Amino acid sequence: MFRTDPETPDAFRTPVEEVFIRNHLGRRPELDADSWSLTVEGLVERPLRLDFQALRGLPQTRFTAVHECFGNPLQPTVPTRAVTNLEWEGVPLAEVLALAGPRPEARHVWLEGADRGDFAGESDVSFLKDLPLEQARTEVVLAHRMNGEPLRPDHGHPVRAVAPRMFGTNSVKWLTRIVLAAERPEHLFTTRLYTRVLPGESEARPVREKDVSSKLLSLRDGSTVPAGVSELAGYAWSSTEVTAVEVAVDDADWQPAELDGRGPDPSWQRFRLRHDLAPGAHRIRCRATDSAGRVQPLTGDRNAVHEIAVVAV
Ligand code: MTE
Repeated sequence: MFRTDPETPDAFRTPVEEVFIRNHLGRRPELDADSWSLTVEGLVERPLRLDFQALRGLPQTRFTAVHECFGNPLQPTVPTRAVTNLEWEGVPLAEVLALAGPRPEARHVWLEGADRGDFAGESDVSFLKDLPLEQARTEVVLAHRMNGEPLRPDHGHPVRAVAPRMFGTNSVKWLTRIVLAAERPEHLFTTRLYTRVLPGESEARPVREKDVSSKLLSLRDGSTVPAGVSELAGYAWSSTEVTAVEVAVDDADWQPAELDGRGPDPSWQRFRLRHDLAPGAHRIRCRATDSAGRVQPLTGDRNAVHEIAVVAV
């Protein structure tokens, strides 16, 4: 289910058929928009059950965001570089929470999908994630369209959560239940998996905000390319804006690449550097820095610099 270095198309918006699919619990649930409903329960003044039509009747939003898989939760430092950039359309979670009225004791929002199954030695579990209430209220969207079309079954039809600045694991597919609670849920996908200790910290924290990262896409790893001036290009992304990307060819110094700004949406940013490739074998690396000052490590973590090998002829 988790493979390393899947191919990412070199387009600003990733075609839906190229988007990776991550289903932890085996067979996906078959839901249809006509019978789907979402309950909002727990610490709320007005418990709710919304159907698809009611959800469509609420204010809608549309944005483009990076959709990135964290990787195998059993190997949290191994790079997978499964990344795409997608347009989403849906209802801000804040609209639904306003209807339900969170009680003052509510601190956390639990988001649960309709799929159940076995994973990592645990049986008949659901896919459950959680976020602090304030963060969920400002960041999460209940999406029903991806790249202008209704969500496909594998991507969470009819409605999924999207947490645009966070790793894909937080974007619960086939969303059917929201719970407001005073505590975080003790669960396979919240406290037992998808946690990590960040460099310089001692306590494990949940896998949420994306790391700073970049991927070279204009040339394919292992390919033969024409010798001469070539555009070394790709995309860089983070939970904040990327402020610099550098590219290094072979053992030469890092060179600053030209970098597009991010704009209002948390989408990825194009970088490019023209470079004269002499005939022969080359290794090309890219390294991004974000506005929080985070820099991709050279090795040892899931967002280590991306490196490709090409032969110029
Ligand atoms: N939601 C449910 N209900 N079940 C899942 O297995 N996988 C998560 C997340 N949401 C998952 C889920 C993970 S790990 C990722 S990376 C994204 O969905 C993948 O979304 P996609 O399959 O649409 O690309």
